[in-house]
Amino acid sequence: MRFFLVKHASCVKGEILPLGDKSIACRSIIISAISCGKTTVENFPPNKDCLSTIKTFKNLGIKITQNQKVETISVFGNGLCGLKKPKGPIFVGDSGTTLRLTLGVLAGQNFAVTLTSGKSLSARPMLRVTAPLRMMGAEIIARRKPQNAKLEEYPPIRIRGSSLKPITYRMPVASAQVKSAILLAGLYAKGRTCVIEPVKTRDHTERMLRLFRAGIKVNENTIVIKGKKELVSPGRIFIPGDISSAGFFMVLGTILPNSRILIKDINLNPSRMGIIKVLKRMGSDIQVLGDSAVGFEPIGDIIIKSSKLKSTIIKEKEIPSLIDELPILMVAVCFAKGESIFEGVGELRIKETDRIRSMSENLKKMGADIRVLKTPKSEKIIIQGGRALIGATVKSFGDHRTAMSMVVAGLAAEGKTRIDNISCINKSFPGFLNILKTLIR
Ligand code: S3P
Repeated sequence: MRFFLVKHASCVKGEILPLGDKSIACRSIIISAISCGKTTVENFPPNKDCLSTIKTFKNLGIKITQNQKVETISVFGNGLCGLKKPKGPIFVGDSGTTLRLTLGVLAGQNFAVTLTSGKSLSARPMLRVTAPLRMMGAEIIARRKPQNAKLEEYPPIRIRGSSLKPITYRMPVASAQVKSAILLAGLYAKGRTCVIEPVKTRDHTERMLRLFRAGIKVNENTIVIKGKKELVSPGRIFIPGDISSAGFFMVLGTILPNSRILIKDINLNPSRMGIIKVLKRMGSDIQVLGDSAVGFEPIGDIIIKSSKLKSTIIKEKEIPSLIDELPILMVAVCFAKGESIFEGVGELRIKETDRIRSMSENLKKMGADIRVLKTPKSEKIIIQGGRALIGATVKSFGDHRTAMSMVVAGLAAEGKTRIDNISCINKSFPGFLNILKTLIR
C-alpha cells in the first residue's frame, strides 16, 4: 500500500477560495430538477457526491448540462411530476444527501425505482427516512440485516411513489437530511406537511424552497410546507463556499504559529456556524468580514490568525451546527490547554465511517489523551489537550473528513505522519491538497 506522507509545517499563509458547499449544491440539482424552467447553477463543486446527484437526476430523465466553465451547470426542470422512470436501478454512490433527499422526491412520483449505493452508504441507517415517507403513503422495501435484532433498514431501497398524504412529524433525531426528505415529499402531498425538529439543523432546503417560491413557513423548530404547488426556477443560483471544507484551514491557521489565512466567499448560514463559534470561545483569532447574501444564503470572508487555544465544552444542542466539523475540532482541542468535552456525539458513529472510532484511534496513535464515555442515552468524547502530537502511521478509514483532519494533525505534529489512503478526500474536496500546498511556508 502507498502511504501519503505529511511532514510538520512551520506556518501557513495566504488566501483561499474553497469549493461550493456540498449540501447546497446537491439541493440545487434536486430542487431545480422538479421546478419549472431552466436553472443555471454557478460555483458547483465537482466532487464525487455532487456528481452523484447529477447522475441520479439524469437517470430520472432530467437534462443537465455542464457549461464550458466546469463549475457552471444548467438544469432543465420538468415540474414536480416531470421525472421519468429509469431503465434500471440507480446507483447513488456514497452520497447520503443524494439518497435521502431523492427518496423524498421519489415518494411522490407515479413509478417505482431501486436506489443502490456504495459500500459506506450501504452500511448507514435509513429507517429514519423510510419510516416517515411510508407514513405519507410511499411503498418502500429496504434491506434488513436478519442477524441484527435491532429493527433498522439499509440500502438498496426500492420505492414506489403514490399520491401522498400530509403528516405532522416530530423528528426523533436531529437530521437535516431527514427533514429535507419529508419537506420534499410534502411538495407532493395534498395539504400541509409539518416537520418539528428536536434541535435546529441546517436550513438550506427551506431557504432554497423559498427561493423557488414554495409555500413554506418556518417558526423556530417547526416547518410547514404546502403541497401541490409548482416550484418556479429563479433562473440562476450561486453556490457559496463550503464552511465544512473551510473548517480544516480554520483549525490549521489557528494551531500553527505565525499563520494567517483569508478564506473568501464562504457560506455564513447561522445553522452552520458552530465551528466559528466554538473556535472563537477557545480563543481563536477569527474575524468574520462582510455578510452579504447571494439571494438565499449569507456569504462572506473570514480571516484566521494563529492563537493559543483553551479547552471548551461542546453541548449536545450545538452538535447539528458543527456535525461535520467534529473530526477537525477533535484535532483542534488536542492543541488547547485543558480538558475539552464533546457531549451527545452518538450520530458520529453513523457517518461515512464511525468517526468516534476513526478519530480517537488515530489521535491516540499520535499521543493524544482521549476517552469515550458511553451511557445508554448518549456518548461523550473527553480530550485532555495541551501536549504535542507526534507523527504516526494512521488510517483514513475511507472517510474524507477523517483523512483531511489527519492531514491537518500531521502538519501540526512533530515529525512525520503517514496516512494509508487519502483518495476518499474527493468525496467532498478534490483540490484540498493543492490548496494546502499554496499555503505552506
Ligand atoms: C447533510 C446533513 C448532515 C451532514 C451531512 C450533510 C445535509 O447529515 O452530516 O454531511 O446535506 O443535509 P444528517 O442529516 O444525517 O445529520
